[in-house]
Amino acid sequence: MDMSSWFSETEVSYLKSIVLQTNKLNGSVIEIGTFKGQSAVSIISALPEHDKLICVDPFTDFSMGTSGIQASGEYICSAFKSNMEELGLSNRYVLHRVPSNTFFKQIVHTYPYYQTGRIRFALIDGAHEYPYVADDIRNVYNNLVMGGVMVLDDTNFPQVGAAINDTIKKYAIPYSVMPGTKLGVAQKIGWLI
Ligand SMILES: C[S@@+](CC[C@H](N)C(=O)[O-])C[C@H]1O[C@@H](n2cnc3c(N)ncnc32)[C@H](O)[C@@H]1O
Repeated sequence: MDMSSWFSETEVSYLKSIVLQTNKLNGSVIEIGTFKGQSAVSIISALPEHDKLICVDPFTDFSMGTSGIQASGEYICSAFKSNMEELGLSNRYVLHRVPSNTFFKQIVHTYPYYQTGRIRFALIDGAHEYPYVADDIRNVYNNLVMGGVMVLDDTNFPQVGAAINDTIKKYAIPYSVMPGTKLGVAQKIGWLI
């Protein structure tokens, strides 16, 4: 199985504990930025059996600065699908192979949960450039149910951190960073105006 390990054990446990907390709410569970599936597998493991994770990723060719991590979008997409199959999770996700802004413009409204609860949990781990992160936070927040939670990865990346700081300040979103991790957490406890 070819699956990257972006998340530490601590981060995986935090992620699962937050998903578990939101299971009592109505709404969809989504992930922006799926890659080969590490976070998808963690999130699904915390969902009730009838629930599917909505994965949003355009699977374009991937290359990460000096880390040497590089792969074609086709390869990443097929690695994700075969990882899920190997783990018996093929029926636990729905994949939208589009950028997140397309998902929010064209697809989120088509979900049956949309009218009752929209999104109850979201992991934001897609494009790491400032405008995309800011858009993802705003779009997710606009679609979160009351009490719903979004988790943001890589808060230590300069552009991700800056987008988070500016966006949460702009919309006065309650936010904290999980101790000892690079995960940020924001919960909807008031309407976005
Ligand atoms: C750091 S990886 C995600 C890691 C993944 N969460 C895991 O656990 O393995 C970032 C992913 O975001 C995806 N991505 C890039 N631009 C995107 C966009 N505009 N919308 C959604 N996903 C995007 C990339 O294709 C890549 O798979």
